Amino acid sequence: MAWADGLREAEVEPSLYAADFARLGEQIEQLLAAGTRLFHYDVGDGHFVEPIIIGPIVLQSIGGLIHEGGGRVDVHLMIERPEEWVDRYANAGATYLTIHVEATRDVPGTLAAIRGRGVRPGLTLNPETAVDAVMPYLGSVDLALVMSVHPGFGGQTFIESALDKVRAIREALDERKLAAELEVDGGVKPDNCARVVAAGATVLVAGSAVFEDPAGPPAALRKFRQALRR
Ligand code: DX5
Ligand code: ZN
Repeated sequence: MAWADGLREAEVEPSLYAADFARLGEQIEQLLAAGTRLFHYDVGDGHFVEPIIIGPIVLQSIGGLIHEGGGRVDVHLMIERPEEWVDRYANAGATYLTIHVEATRDVPGTLAAIRGRGVRPGLTLNPETAVDAVMPYLGSVDLALVMSVHPGFGGQTFIESALDKVRAIREALDERKLAAELEVDGGVKPDNCARVVAAGATVLVAGSAVFEDPAGPPAALRKFRQALRR
């Protein structure tokens, strides 16, 4: 496994979907100060997933703040026809751009277009999609994302069968000596994160566990780090 760009062995990635949007900049600065280097940015179109979440305009507003603070933005496109949006998210400051394998008829072309814009391509799959759907593309991505909830909303319960997919992708990445990040998104908490990392994940998305902790986001991050014993 390569951590060439400075990622620690397992990185907790706060999902801004769960942030207080009235205090978004302030919360990003707080997380940067607490050591966050990767921010998860959920995009929903009201079609592929039920809610309309946020789009490139908000990313444009916060991208500078995150990049200047040494952070990166991992954009999770829960939208149909992601190929039509690559340029806009690249221009707005995406570091990673992750598409759903179910959302486009041209997975390889979209991944190539993302890379062509100097953005790191990611690929993900819904809980009901067989892991085989992403296997042919592992050599073309910088990030493989396993959804551990049905995409659309934060605060859902972790689907245990996601761990089998994580193990299968970890095995395939190692076998093929591929250094892509392996990310898990949905229902990840301090009390299950160690199992997710043990299955082979390197990036843990956490929305409600970070932003809804009554002790505040930095304290929540400490709980994750403690659970991961580092
Ligand atoms: C779910 C989103 C997730 C969500 C995670 O549709 O893709 O990124 O923000 O939230 P939690 O950690 O609360 O499950
Ligand atoms: Zn997400």
